[in-house]
Amino acid sequence: MGRNSYEPGLKAGMTSPCGHLPEQYVVSRSLTTSPDPQVQLISGDLVAEVRELKARDGLGIWLCGGADLAAQLIDEIDEFIVKTYPVFAGTGMPMSRAGFGARPLELTGVRTLGGGQIVSSYAVKR
Ligand SMILES: NC(=O)c1ccc[n+]([C@@H]2O[C@H](COP(=O)([O-])OP(=O)(O)OC[C@H]3O[C@@H](n4cnc5c(N)ncnc54)[C@H](OP(=O)(O)O)[C@@H]3O)[C@@H](O)[C@H]2O)c1
Repeated sequence: MGRNSYEPGLKAGMTSPCGHLPEQYVVSRSLTTSPDPQVQLISGDLVAEVRELKARDGLGIWLCGGADLAAQLIDEIDEFIVKTYPVFAGTGMPMSRAGFGARPLELTGVRTLGGGQIVSSYAVKR
């Protein structure tokens, strides 16, 4: 996750927000030491670091957010999972901060939750 996504939890004293996952990475130029031994910092070439992680054996990688990171890593993302809430808002944060051409997706799953939320999964068409 990007440092902005990590920040709110950190301010509330949650230094390891995804402790159930085997590895956690926070991308930041301003943090110089990790606040938690379970969290590793990435400050160099982001795309190269992610490609190196993708090439390793192991579990899939969940890009938690946010919009800044999603835009920089657009070419590395293989699947989108979009959660839609039953709220109509006139403002909000875009899912990606930078502009790029439309990416064709294939719907691979839809789940409806009890509160009216919809979880849609899409594979990126290559
Ligand atoms: N709906 C969801 O599922 C969801 C999930 C996650 C987050 N969010 C929301 O998204 C928002 C945060 O998104 P955001 O776009 O503001 O920020 P973000 O992508 O979380 O983080 C941006 C920060 O990451 C660091 N960074 C970005 N690119 C870097 C690079 N190439 N090398 C080194 N560091 C880099 C910088 O941190 P430094 O300033 O430390 O250098 C930058 O300020 C929050 O409001 C959060 O609530 C939503």
